[in-house]
Amino acid sequence: MKNISQILNVLLAAALVILAIKITLLDNGKSQVETKVETADALDVIMTRASVRSYTDKPISTDKVEKMLKAAMAAPTARNQQPWAFVVVDSREILDELAETLPHAKMAAQAPLAIVACGDLTKSLSGVAQEYWVQDVSAAIENLLLAAHAMELGAVWTGVYPIPERVNDVVQVLSLPEHIIPLAVIPIGYPAGEVQPKDKWKPENVRYNKWE
Ligand SMILES: Cc1cc2nc3c(=O)[nH]c(=O)nc-3n(C[C@H](O)[C@H](O)[C@H](O)COP(=O)(O)O)c2cc1C
Repeated sequence: MKNISQILNVLLAAALVILAIKITLLDNGKSQVETKVETADALDVIMTRASVRSYTDKPISTDKVEKMLKAAMAAPTARNQQPWAFVVVDSREILDELAETLPHAKMAAQAPLAIVACGDLTKSLSGVAQEYWVQDVSAAIENLLLAAHAMELGAVWTGVYPIPERVNDVVQVLSLPEHIIPLAVIPIGYPAGEVQPKDKWKPENVRYNKWE
């Protein structure tokens, strides 16, 4: 009886060791695959994004609008100031007004939505570092463009600041207070037709260590 119990104990221990090895192998295999897929997805979104200037009239869900805004606000900012404000424009009248006043943003007349990315000077750094707001809001805009593309939307960055007439026009159309500076109007919609990303890879733009 004692012998049988010893044999059973040994068999049980062996089964536990085999199970532990299998779980370890499975876990490793799974995490490697997941890491690869996540990396490929992010790079794929970056490399296939392109400016989209014509849209279908399909509306954009509030869930997607919120996801784009969350992506924008996930961007890095100097000293984590987050010196930004975003105006979501879905009024046909205001979209048309933006298109009319901004010659380079005519596509807003076709778009179901535009997000106006602004700097908030009450949240920016002071002194020479104040201008960092431009880089901070630019990083947010790129995140927003990538999020739009990842959700099969199309968008285009149309520049406003630092061109004074454009800044004045957007301030007027959106009734912006003095401390809110519009950096870009971003018309967004479902792309009408194929979007072809440009190949911009130029190895000659890169230097290693020193210039010479
Ligand atoms: C600061 C800035 C200002 C831009 N202004 C405009 C604009 O006023 N109108 C427009 O159609 N596109 C504008 N663009 C989009 C560029 O034309 C576009 O990004 C560039 O041609 C590269 O094409 P891609 O976005 O498809 O890669 C702007 C982009 C940036 C970064």
